[in-house]
Amino acid sequence: MNASGLDRAPWRGLANGLRGSHVNIESLVQANERALASLHHGDLPRWQAALATLTVKSPCLDPDHPAPRLGAAVDDPEALRAGLMELHPWRKGPLCLGGVAIDSEWRSDWKWDRIRDHLDLDGAHVLDVGCGNGYFGWRMLGAGARCVVGIDPTVLFVMQWLAQARFAGAAHNYVLPLRDTDLPRDVGRFDVVCSMGVLYHRRDPVDHLARLHGWLRTDGQLLLETLVVADDEALHPPGRYARMRNVHEVPAVPRLLGQLESAGFAAPRVLDLSPTTVQEQRSTDWMRFESLDRCLDPVDPRRTIEGHPAPLRAVVLAGGSRP
Ligand SMILES: C[S@@+](CC[C@H](N)C(=O)[O-])C[C@H]1O[C@@H](n2cnc3c(N)ncnc32)[C@H](O)[C@@H]1O
Repeated sequence: MNASGLDRAPWRGLANGLRGSHVNIESLVQANERALASLHHGDLPRWQAALATLTVKSPCLDPDHPAPRLGAAVDDPEALRAGLMELHPWRKGPLCLGGVAIDSEWRSDWKWDRIRDHLDLDGAHVLDVGCGNGYFGWRMLGAGARCVVGIDPTVLFVMQWLAQARFAGAAHNYVLPLRDTDLPRDVGRFDVVCSMGVLYHRRDPVDHLARLHGWLRTDGQLLLETLVVADDEALHPPGRYARMRNVHEVPAVPRLLGQLESAGFAAPRVLDLSPTTVQEQRSTDWMRFESLDRCLDPVDPRRTIEGHPAPLRAVVLAGGSRP
């Protein structure tokens, strides 16, 4: 236990998972240790108490499902459900923990279906920047990845991963409480680097892309998923965008591809362009706050409530270095 009261055991397998990779394990472990030592949130004691109530019958992992199956079905699903509900809101999923189905705000399995066939994950060491609660990490393990290192600064999502890890048992899918700027530029290189739903939150998108480039092997794959606009060169929302704070730039595709090339990536190409629908992002029992339907113009859903173009998401694949 440490100052934040968190046991380090769930991260102990990192070194083993990254053995044989081009990652500086010592540097990564130290960055994680620094972040854990200074972790704080007013709800942390409540979340920790909720984690302590979770009874695991038998840890196991069956990840290759829309809702990855973590842990054998428990004897008292109502008690487990109540404990997991203390970690509300569950934004990414669906998940099945100890037999309890978590119907999250996002159908993240739909996003996964748009990207899975394009990634070469066999035996890969993956970095997922802004990984949320680690949902995609399970799917990547299911698709053959050797180890997935997710980083995300939102303490609740790290707690949700800790809950999942208890049910999964020893598995090389990790969530570290780090922002992109907390990860040393020289931490080494991964076979696959993902950044999904993060770029528009970064004040300096080119700096974000340059960091991703520095963490990717020259023959590796970058998977970038982000909001784009269809018409203008870029949207810089003066206030909120679809009620979201901290949306700094939403580029058009040519501008995004140019930014990727400037950052050093090879041959960036768009794999998919999809509007976000109110079927893919919606309120559920597990995410009871407002969701996308309340963020769109009720008269013209092609616009956000602020009058901007409604969310359109691009999936882009690029190589680690220009030939
Ligand atoms: C829209 S969510 C996307 C989650 C997941 N990647 C997905 O595609 O569903 C954005 C995530 O980025 C995280 N985030 C925000 N700023 C970040 C930063 N500077 N570095 C890493 N992650 C960040 C947030 O905590 C949040 O979990």
